[in-house]
Amino acid sequence: MAPSPKPPANVRWTHKHLLGLEDLSREEITAILDTADSFYEVSKRDRKKVPALTGRVVFNLFFENSTRTRTSFDLAAKRLSADTQDFTASVSSLSKGETFIDTAKNIEAMGADFMVVRHPTPGAPHLLARNVQSSIINAGDGSHEHPTQGLLDLMTIRRKKGKIEGLTVALVGDISHSRVARSNIWGLLKLGAKVILCGPPTLVPKRFEAMGCEVAYHLDEVLPRVDVVNVLRIQFERAAGGSFPSIAEYSHFYGMTQERVNRAKPDLLLLAPGPINRGVELTPEVADGPNSAILDQVTNGLAVRMAVLYLLSGRKDAPALTTE
Ligand code: CP
Repeated sequence: MAPSPKPPANVRWTHKHLLGLEDLSREEITAILDTADSFYEVSKRDRKKVPALTGRVVFNLFFENSTRTRTSFDLAAKRLSADTQDFTASVSSLSKGETFIDTAKNIEAMGADFMVVRHPTPGAPHLLARNVQSSIINAGDGSHEHPTQGLLDLMTIRRKKGKIEGLTVALVGDISHSRVARSNIWGLLKLGAKVILCGPPTLVPKRFEAMGCEVAYHLDEVLPRVDVVNVLRIQFERAAGGSFPSIAEYSHFYGMTQERVNRAKPDLLLLAPGPINRGVELTPEVADGPNSAILDQVTNGLAVRMAVLYLLSGRKDAPALTTE
């Protein structure tokens, strides 16, 4: 097994849970990104597994579908040598009337050190954090926050652009229903970026200006001055489809096409958290083109989730603190 990376010297991690980027300071976010960079290097080694979480138990509790977050947390925990267990709500005893909290307490009784929780209800992970002793990691709670997605977006920007401070980042699309937007806003503003929210007025509420964002409704006007575009999915499952006349009209005004990319800065960085709807929020040639870092985001997500599990584990005698 490969040795664990040396943690950054400036890491002073005190949090038990990761519930949102709103709760973290600029220094804490930077510590996660620095730690994730170390784990990114580990993932390039022949031996990708490290002993950091040997003996720890990580449960994935997903009450909503997921491809990237669920598998990435599972692999991150395995790479750190933890035992992992999936909980699938649809085949659980929730259908017999067991409550969310009782379910979590039973999982805790099996020795869960971490619960990675995705739930359609905003605040569900916070509720568990108040009711169980395990460390709770928010893997997306309704339209509230998706902190590890925000962190992996920040990591991708930092690795591609070399910095975050001073960049102009546009979040385009369904801001209203997007937990990714909220985590990005908190993270980007704390790290010194300018944030523009752009989409139809029905999906980009003016109240976001109070957070320090610019709100814009005309993508073609903002595109020439942005360094990064993060294309957010229309959340049809949260009734966002009723917010504009047709998908064709939405794509006409807000879809990222090659023509729009050609009119942007040549080094425009294009992100999308996924899942992507090809032909709706962006065209296939843009999704697969040279400005796109969509799959880099997925790779970086693994390193971010290893870093989060590692930092939350916080045990002074953890094997992760051994150095090469
Ligand atoms: N980006 C993201 O959260 O993807 P999944 O829903 O597939 O986890």
